[in-house]
Amino acid sequence: MATVRIMFAVTAARIDADNPLDGLEFAERPEPTVPEGWTTVTVKATALNHHDVWTLRGVGIREDRLPIILGCDAAGVDEDGNEVIVHSVIGDPERGGGDETLDPKRSLLSESYDGTFAQKVAVPRRNLVPKPASLSFEEAACLPTAWLTAYRMLFDKAQLQPGSTILVQGAGGGVATAVIALGAAAGYRVWATSRSADKRERALELGADQAFESGARLPERVDAVMETVGEATWSHSLKSLRPGGRIVVSGATSGQVPPADQNRVFFLQLSVVGSTMGTRDQLVRLARFLDVTGVRPRIDRVLPLNQARDGFAAMAAGEVFGKIVFTP
Ligand SMILES: NC(=O)c1ccc[n+]([C@@H]2O[C@H](COP(=O)([O-])OP(=O)(O)OC[C@H]3O[C@@H](n4cnc5c(N)ncnc54)[C@H](OP(=O)(O)O)[C@@H]3O)[C@@H](O)[C@H]2O)c1
Repeated sequence: MATVRIMFAVTAARIDADNPLDGLEFAERPEPTVPEGWTTVTVKATALNHHDVWTLRGVGIREDRLPIILGCDAAGVDEDGNEVIVHSVIGDPERGGGDETLDPKRSLLSESYDGTFAQKVAVPRRNLVPKPASLSFEEAACLPTAWLTAYRMLFDKAQLQPGSTILVQGAGGGVATAVIALGAAAGYRVWATSRSADKRERALELGADQAFESGARLPERVDAVMETVGEATWSHSLKSLRPGGRIVVSGATSGQVPPADQNRVFFLQLSVVGSTMGTRDQLVRLARFLDVTGVRPRIDRVLPLNQARDGFAAMAAGEVFGKIVFTP
């Protein structure tokens, strides 16, 4: 009989919409077994996303799938010893019309299949992307969710030319810090908002041209707004756009049902465009972008995986600037 090897993992054991950390459990789990076409990666670093907090709150997960290993992001070593980044989108590009994020059966790691907060993760072979040697495992682990989402929002969905002005709401978030750094490197004029003076200061260090208090009147209207905050910033986002401008939205941390303000949308001919994650090809190009430009993810802190609870608590309290990385 084959020996079952045991690994350490961080799981969602229960759903609790009000106290999400109550469902967070540290568990010993069997190492993954892989179906045909899949492989395993030894995780060297993984990163926390708001997605992991949503899972614990019961958003985007079925209760009968619990307990599930959390985590969408990983960088590590494949079975042949290659350094890789794991693309988190499990989907068929053909079913999505050439784009796996549009596959109606798409899932992210930790939604249907076990995630990356473990010593090993199983993924389809096509989800492995070479890690540039210039990126550390910790930096590379930030790419598959927050940074990939930022890349697609900016360079695919926003349809801007370099020199355009963008507004980034909620400067401290994982996606927001990525948009600021990528946008500045690509030649956009980046304006950011934050509730915190300290985060506004740090947004400027990341490459923002100006930083404003949340809700502040801007010196002029912008070409596009990058939205992940939701109800708390939505009406400011709409008011900040020039006629014909565009909101690219990939998240709604503070609530998902803001007033639509339809008059403003049609009078000013605004566009509201949704964006989620990115394709494997976009992840390859993002990694190359960082390799070529020297831009690096802003990492708030690196914690051993067995101290993941501290990272979750900081994220739930909004006390983060950039990414929280765990090392198994
Ligand atoms: N669609 C996708 O593929 C995708 C991918 C990644 C993330 N997301 C979603 O995007 C959102 C952002 O995720 P994240 O991981 O970047 O980090 P996050 O922890 O959700 O973002 C934190 C930032 O949001 C701002 N914020 C939160 N609550 C706020 C409030 N009530 N008022 C004003 N600002 C508030 C804060 O900005 P300040 O403190 O600076 O004001 C904070 O720095 C999440 O909802 C996540 O689920 C979606």
